[in-house]
Order: sequence, then structure tokens, then C-alpha cells
Amino acid sequence: MQTVLSGIRPTGDLHLGNYFGALRNFVRLQNDYNCFFFVADYHSLTTHPHPADIQNNVRKILSQYIASGLDPEKSTIYIQSDLVETAEFYMLMNMNAYIGELERVVSFKEKARQNPDNVNAGLLTYAVLMACDILIQRADLVPVGKDQEQHLEMTCKFARRFNNIYGVEYFKEPKAFSFGDHLVKVPGLDGSGKMGKSEGNGIYLIDSDKDIRKKVMKAVTDLGPQAPNSEKPEVIQNLFTLMELVSDKSTIEHFEAAWNDCSIRYGDMKKQLAEDIIKVVTPIRERINDIYNDTEYLDRVAKMGAEKARVNAQKTIQDVREIFGFRRIHY
Ligand code: TYM
Repeated sequence: MQTVLSGIRPTGDLHLGNYFGALRNFVRLQNDYNCFFFVADYHSLTTHPHPADIQNNVRKILSQYIASGLDPEKSTIYIQSDLVETAEFYMLMNMNAYIGELERVVSFKEKARQNPDNVNAGLLTYAVLMACDILIQRADLVPVGKDQEQHLEMTCKFARRFNNIYGVEYFKEPKAFSFGDHLVKVPGLDGSGKMGKSEGNGIYLIDSDKDIRKKVMKAVTDLGPQAPNSEKPEVIQNLFTLMELVSDKSTIEHFEAAWNDCSIRYGDMKKQLAEDIIKVVTPIRERINDIYNDTEYLDRVAKMGAEKARVNAQKTIQDVREIFGFRRIHY
């Protein structure tokens, strides 16, 4: 059976980008695959969260995973830092990762530009740690959004390089996965490209109906189509892209036709879009609080997940140690 793996950094609440880029695809796979989904708390350290906040950030994300449909009975849900094997693997793999290639990673360049005072080594080697998360479980499919595509290419590169250097056929190359024919990029509604935590333009799974309506009604638009069947400018395409994720086919066709014959009213489109987002978010939001408050349950889920995830991780790290020339550890 193929293995599916993904994770999200606990740096804030989950937004529609996380949901449609990663979570929803993952949830749809969990009946038929060997599934691992983790909270990437090591990765969150690049932005130096306060130590007193980390446990709570993790718990928040765990509760939002489960509320979104991740089922701890079907999937292995765990916390990245519970698998210390990943840290050893990351240290070893860093020896075969080169500064030049790491400096060229788009997300690294972006983060370095946004925070020039915090270009730390963890940020530079972010892609190595992510590769280790994936390779340590020997994952085949990795449900992620479009923004992670390059990290998956790096993972394949590191896997190939490892096999070449040591003359083994140990790691296979995982694939970024999405249902449909492309990885999803959920746009922001402020005209700034993608929806994201650091972009400050998120529609969150915990947002109230009122917040969602307010955010959608504020979406940037333009003067309207100037000629029939014209190409849509980016800000308008963004509304349609979101509609494709949350609305039914007839609604989308209605607004496409209205765009094409220039009768579209953005106010109506936004109202409809907000209601359709609310339909997706409401059942998730309603579950979040109860799950979040059940600390005992969440501790049990994380413990069970770590135990299961550790089985593959220990096997991989033992093999990798041996391939590097070290002894296997006797636990
Ligand atoms: P993070 O927290 O930045 O993003 C988590 C997931 O949400 C997706 N995503 C989006 N997808 C579509 N449109 C958007 N606007 C959008 N915003 C976020 C991301 O593509 C991602 O799938 N580095 C990972 C965390 C990670 C990981 C891994 C993932 C660490 N190790 C191993 C997979 C496998 C990340 O970007 O987290």
C-alpha cells in the first residue's frame, strides 16, 4: 500500500489555503492509503516562537486537523518533534546539501527578503528538514499546495543524490499530490497573490460567518468587464478560483456567463462566495472548540501517532546510519 504524508507549521490558525492545498486532499485519501499527517513544530522555530506558546500552538493545529476530518483511527497523526529520529536524519542529510542550491530556493529568498534580520541556518536548510520528514516515512504521495512544489523537487533531488553517493537504491522519489490535474494555489482576496498567514489575508477555519462575509465583501475588484468574453484580470480570476473550490457547478457557470456577457455584479458574486465558504467552514468550526478543550484526548492522539510513526522512522534511521558507515543503534 502506498504511503501518504503531509504536515503544516503551527504558526497560526489554519486557513483555506491549508485546507484546500493540503488537508482536504489528505482527508480524501485516508481510507485507502497508509497515511501520516504531522504538526511541523520544528519548522516553526525559524520564526522563533515563544517557548511558552509552542504546546498551545500545536494543540490548536491538532484540533483543527481533526475537526477538518483527519481521523486518528485511520491516519497516523503526530508531532514532528516527537520523532527525534528526524533530527538525526536532518543532521546527516545536511552534509550532502549545498549552500548554493539552498540559497536558490524561492521560499528561502522570499523569507530572507521579508525578514532580513532573521536569515538563520534553519531557514536556509528548511528544505532539507522537509525532505527528511518525507523520506523518513518513505512516503509516495505528499498532498501540498503549489507553493511547496519546489520543496518536493528538492526532496527528490536529495533522495537521488543519497542513492548516487552511496550506490544504493534506498529512497524512492515522492510526488506532490493533489486531486485534479494541478496543485492548488488558493489566492488571497487582497490582490496580493496567495492566501497565507504571513500575508495577513487569510480566511480561517475558525472565522465566524460575520468575519467571512466581511473579508469576502472587502475583496479587491475592478470596474467590471469592458467587452464580452474578455480575459479576467488577476483580482477577478481570484474570486472565480475560490468559487471553483467551494461553489457548485451551476453557480460557477452562472457567474462565468455573467462575466462573459458583461452583466456581472461583483457584489452578488461576493455574497454568494461568502455563503459557499461559510457552508464549508461551519461544520469544521463547530467541532474545533470541543476537540481543542479535550486535552486528554489530544495527548492520546499524539502519543498513539508518535508510537506508530516511530516504527518507520527508526527503521529508516538505522538503515541510513549504516549506509553512512555508522553502527545501528540498539534501543
Ligand atoms: P505551511 O504551514 O506553510 O503550509 C501548509 C500547507 O498548506 C499549503 N498552503 C496552501 N496551498 C494552497 N494555497 C495556499 N494559499 C496555501 N497556503 C498554504 C501548503 O502548500 C502546505 O501544503 N513546509 C510545509 C510544512 C511541512 C511539510 C513537510 C509538508 C514540513 N514538512 C513534509 C509536507 C511534507 C509548509 O509549507 O507548511
